[in-house]
Amino acid sequence: DWNPGNVIADQVERIRAQVGTGKVLCGLSGGVDSAVAAALVHEAVGDQLVCVFVDHGLLRRDERRQVEEDFVASTGVRLVTIDAREQFLSALAGVSDPEQKRKIIGREFIRTFEKAQADLIAESVEEDGDPIGFLVQGTLYPDVVESGGGAGTANIKSHHNVGGLPEDLQFELVEPLRTLFKDEVRAIGRELGLPEVIVGRQPFPGPGLGIRIVGEVTQERLDLLREADAIVRAELTAAGLDTEIWQCPVVLLADVRSVGVQGDGRTYGHPIVLRPVSSEDAMTADWTRLPYDVLARISNRITNEVDGVNRVVLDVTSKPPGTIEWE
Ligand code: XMP
Repeated sequence: DWNPGNVIADQVERIRAQVGTGKVLCGLSGGVDSAVAAALVHEAVGDQLVCVFVDHGLLRRDERRQVEEDFVASTGVRLVTIDAREQFLSALAGVSDPEQKRKIIGREFIRTFEKAQADLIAESVEEDGDPIGFLVQGTLYPDVVESGGGAGTANIKSHHNVGGLPEDLQFELVEPLRTLFKDEVRAIGRELGLPEVIVGRQPFPGPGLGIRIVGEVTQERLDLLREADAIVRAELTAAGLDTEIWQCPVVLLADVRSVGVQGDGRTYGHPIVLRPVSSEDAMTADWTRLPYDVLARISNRITNEVDGVNRVVLDVTSKPPGTIEWE
């Protein structure tokens, strides 16, 4: 019988056997996989583990706080946050092409992580001469199968996440989720006492809000999109729709403006796109038929509360032909 307690006990034993008294590093993305992997390793080897979280400024509202406060409080993990917001913004300045943006974000992410890693290794050597030798990866079973997939799978978008690290690492990998599916990982996370905001989180792409602004990424646009996204999430949760929806990207069409009227004045603002999808695995998806009253509430709130937005539109395209994300 599959039971999260048994899997945890088994993995803790395996991790201890692999790592011994060695030092371990784990990058957190804010997502469920890296969080559960880190919590498992912490359960096994405690403070031999140090976690790194990169704030690239493309996160959603509250995400950093959820990692720094909620995750740390529930696990006791040692966490280093790197504030790289300025660095990412200036690297993205003037860039509108989606693939360009993805490449830049991926590159800056690796740079930042490698720098943090080098600092932590130096620190660990200074402590007692013993460098960090292990790196945790939140690789799931479907990731293992997919990357072994070989020919025939066209590369539609260059994906980036914490797993996409360079190959010349001098680390031995620790992958405690390698045999598990997503729902099993969630069950283990709950059993380990992780906060629901992290364990129940819907998929969010590594490049974050950077690929949900169609056009150049700027501080002002990020702030605007973050506000709209927070409203959408709050209303979907309030309506009890979180389990029905696979994810709901909220997209800012930064290069589009349309005429509107508000109060007694003409406006010339940006549209926000809602992209609610239902899916089993993100390979295919259908647009979710959200109740009209929920859509109305979201639309009213966004146009009233988010400065610079005067229109909310609904994406009614399945995947294929549309991808889930707009970029
Ligand atoms: P698309 O847009 O290709 O997205 O239909 C499929 C799923 O993948 C997520 N996604 C990403 N996840 N790094 C990630 O970790 C990425 O670069 C990335 N791009 C897309 C997307 O949110 C959806 O769940």
